[in-house]
Amino acid sequence: MALLIRNGEIVTASTRAIADIRCDGETITAIGRDLEAPAGAEEIDASGKLVFPGFVDPHTHIHLPFMGTFAKDTYTTASRAALVGGTTCFIDFCIPERDEDPRVALETWRAKSDGQSACDYSFHIAVTRFDDAVADALREIVREGITSFKVFLAYKGAFGIDDEALYRTLALARSLGVLTCAHCENEDAIALEQARLLAAGETGPGAHHESRPPIVEAEGVHHLVTFAELTGAPVYIVHLSCAEALDIAVRAKHRGVAVTVETLIQYLLLDKSWAERPNFEGAKYVMSPPLRDATNQRVLWDAIRHGAIDVVATDHAPFDFADQKTMGRDDFTKIPNGIPSLENRVELLYTHGPAAGRIDLHRFVDVASTQPAKRFGLFPRKGSIQVGSDADLVVWDPARRRTITASEQEMNVDYNPFEGFEIVGGADVVTVRGEVAVRDGAFVGTIGRGRFVAREPNAVG
Ligand code: URP
Ligand code: ZN
Ligand code: ZN
Repeated sequence: MALLIRNGEIVTASTRAIADIRCDGETITAIGRDLEAPAGAEEIDASGKLVFPGFVDPHTHIHLPFMGTFAKDTYTTASRAALVGGTTCFIDFCIPERDEDPRVALETWRAKSDGQSACDYSFHIAVTRFDDAVADALREIVREGITSFKVFLAYKGAFGIDDEALYRTLALARSLGVLTCAHCENEDAIALEQARLLAAGETGPGAHHESRPPIVEAEGVHHLVTFAELTGAPVYIVHLSCAEALDIAVRAKHRGVAVTVETLIQYLLLDKSWAERPNFEGAKYVMSPPLRDATNQRVLWDAIRHGAIDVVATDHAPFDFADQKTMGRDDFTKIPNGIPSLENRVELLYTHGPAAGRIDLHRFVDVASTQPAKRFGLFPRKGSIQVGSDADLVVWDPARRRTITASEQEMNVDYNPFEGFEIVGGADVVTVRGEVAVRDGAFVGTIGRGRFVAREPNAVG
C-alpha cells in the first residue's frame, strides 16, 4: 500500500509549507517537493487544500454503562463518525464497576472494540476503588500500554472516589509516570443541591446546571490540584467548563503544578440556555459539568489562544433523546449525562476557530491533535506530520460548506446538539495508517483496520 498526497499545504502545530507527502505501508516516508510516486501508489491531488495530522480525541465514551443505560455508539459507528470528521484516533474511558478487577473491565472494553473500529484507539483506565489488589492490576495495565488513569470526584455512589483513594491513585501514577485525568466537581455539594432543588419541585433539565454551579467545579479543581501538589503527580483536568475553574487551574500551573487543561467543543459553542429549552428538549443538553453562562465562552477561547487551555476534546457520550434522556422526564437527576460530538468537533473548532479569526491554524492543530498526542504518549506516531509518523492524514478543503443535521450523521444517536449549525471547511480525504478511509467526505474505510494503540508512560502534565 503506497500513497502520494501532492501539493497540499501541510499545517502542523508549528510549521506550514506546500509539499508532497509520501507514505509507504503505514507510515510517512518522505515529505518534499516533486516527490516520485512509489510503484502502484494512489495519488491524491491536494492543490488548494490544507493537510493536517489526523486529529486525536482523548476523551470519548463509546462503551459506557452509565445511569441505568448504555451510551448508544459502538466502536464501528463511533469510528465511522470520528473519521468523517477528521479524527483518526480516540482514547476511550474503560470504567470498572467499583467491585470489579480493572483487568476484567478492560477485557470487556477490548471485547467490544477489538476488530470493530475503523480508526485507531486507546483506553484510559478509571480508578473507582483503590486497594492493593487494584494497585497490582493497574501496574499490569500500565505495562500493557494503558498509561493514563481517570478519577471521578463526582457521581456520588457510582464512580466517585474518596480522598484516600485519590491520594493513593496519584501517588501510584507518579511512581509509574502516568497521567491522571480527573472529573472535577464536588460530589457532596451536588448531591445536596440536587435534593434541595427536587424538594422545591424543580424537576426539569434546567435544574441540572442549577445543581452544579461554577463554584462546585472550581472546588473540584482546587481539590484535585491540592492533591496533585501534595503527591507531585501530573494531572489532566477533563472537560473544564468555566472561568472560575480555569482560574484555579491557571494559578496551580503558575506555581509549578503539572496541570493539563482540557475543554470541550460543547462549552465553546453552547450555553446553559440550550438546557432550558421547553418540552424537555433541554435534556439533550444535559451533561456534567453543565453548560454554562455564555460569558464563559470568550474566556475559554482566550485561554485556548494564550495556552492556558491545552486540549479541545468532545467527552462524546451519546444517549438517545427518545428513550434514554426521557428516563429523567420527572427528575433531572435521572437524565443520562452526555452530549455527543465526536463527528463534529474538528469542523466546529475550525469554523469558529481559525475560520472566524479566534485562533490560528497552528493552535487549532495543536489543541485538537498534537497536544492530545503528546500528553498521552502517542507523539510522534500521532499528532504530527513527519517522516516515521503514522500516515494518519486529513486533506481539508477550506471551501467546503455544510449544515449539520442528525439525519446525515454517522453517530448512532437520534439527535445532534449542533443541528442547523453552519460549517466552513471539511475533510475531503482521511487516511488511517496509509489507507484511505474517507473520500469526498464520505466513509470508505475498513471496519477492523483500527487498532488498539499501546502508549508510552511519558506523562507530560
Ligand atoms: O456528562 C458527561 N460528561 N457524561 C459523560 C461522563 C463524564 O462525566 O465524562
Ligand atoms: Zn466527566
Ligand atoms: Zn467523560
